[in-house]
Amino acid sequence: MYEEAQLYSPVTKDASGDVTVHLAHDHPGANDPMYRGRRNDIAAAALAWQPGEPAPRIEYTEAEQEVWRTVSRELAAKHARYAVTEYREAKQQVGLPTDHIPGLDEVSALIEPLAGWRYLPAAGLVPLDIFYGSLADRLFHSTQYVRHPAVPLYTPEPDIIHEVIGHGHLLATPTFGELHRLAGVAARRLRDQENLRFLSRVFWFSLEFGTVVEDAELRAYGAGILSSYGEIEEFRGMEHRSLDLVEMGTADYDITQYQPVLYRAQSVTELTHVVGGFFRACSDESITEMRSGVQAAAR
Ligand SMILES: [Fe+2]
Repeated sequence: MYEEAQLYSPVTKDASGDVTVHLAHDHPGANDPMYRGRRNDIAAAALAWQPGEPAPRIEYTEAEQEVWRTVSRELAAKHARYAVTEYREAKQQVGLPTDHIPGLDEVSALIEPLAGWRYLPAAGLVPLDIFYGSLADRLFHSTQYVRHPAVPLYTPEPDIIHEVIGHGHLLATPTFGELHRLAGVAARRLRDQENLRFLSRVFWFSLEFGTVVEDAELRAYGAGILSSYGEIEEFRGMEHRSLDLVEMGTADYDITQYQPVLYRAQSVTELTHVVGGFFRACSDESITEMRSGVQAAAR
């Protein structure tokens, strides 16, 4: 799941219990009553869920299933060319269905025996401290809706395709699963919301949109790239900068477009050293210091 509030369509529940997902006016599903109804129903199922219960079983429509099948098919060839090796290996091991959208418990049943991660339902935005903190326990809060069928290439909103095809395979890898967990352990140490936001931005430019050199090729390991068959064709043409934690942690980004600036690790080893090392060691004090250098430079 992405971390910034603006990515999410707000979800509200009125006095009579009706749940509404408020899509922005320019959302591809904004004028599609059928889609809006589906979004409301799927969010309501997540809100009604209680910890300890099975995840809601969504009866997906044929149109939704077709989006999953299309994206699965399109991504298969692109993952083979552009995804980092561990991701490709995990994809083989996990064996997600390509003919239907799995329930979250089905996803957990595939990933937990390999790597210990379980999926929990989320209606929309989960507060940063809860979302990241849960990663420390190998729990991943996931939406269950599907992107609008008019725009299967890319969604700024984190739908089940992003959560499961993007993050799920990463969670099943040794390196990237551990980086998710370490981000969670780090989040639990932080008390300052601005420092948590810095951490979430480092996460954004690594586990959501990170790239790495492997076998002299630029490959993607970020879930945002690996779940977007539009972006995955474009990322090599973007501006690539060396890993820089302060820059990553303080950069602004526009989620409505493909990410124009990406941060490239020279190797998986460098990634685990720099980003993993940051997650392992960061504290409110160290992040405040990193942020204060930027603020001083801007004055
Ligand atoms: Fe995400």
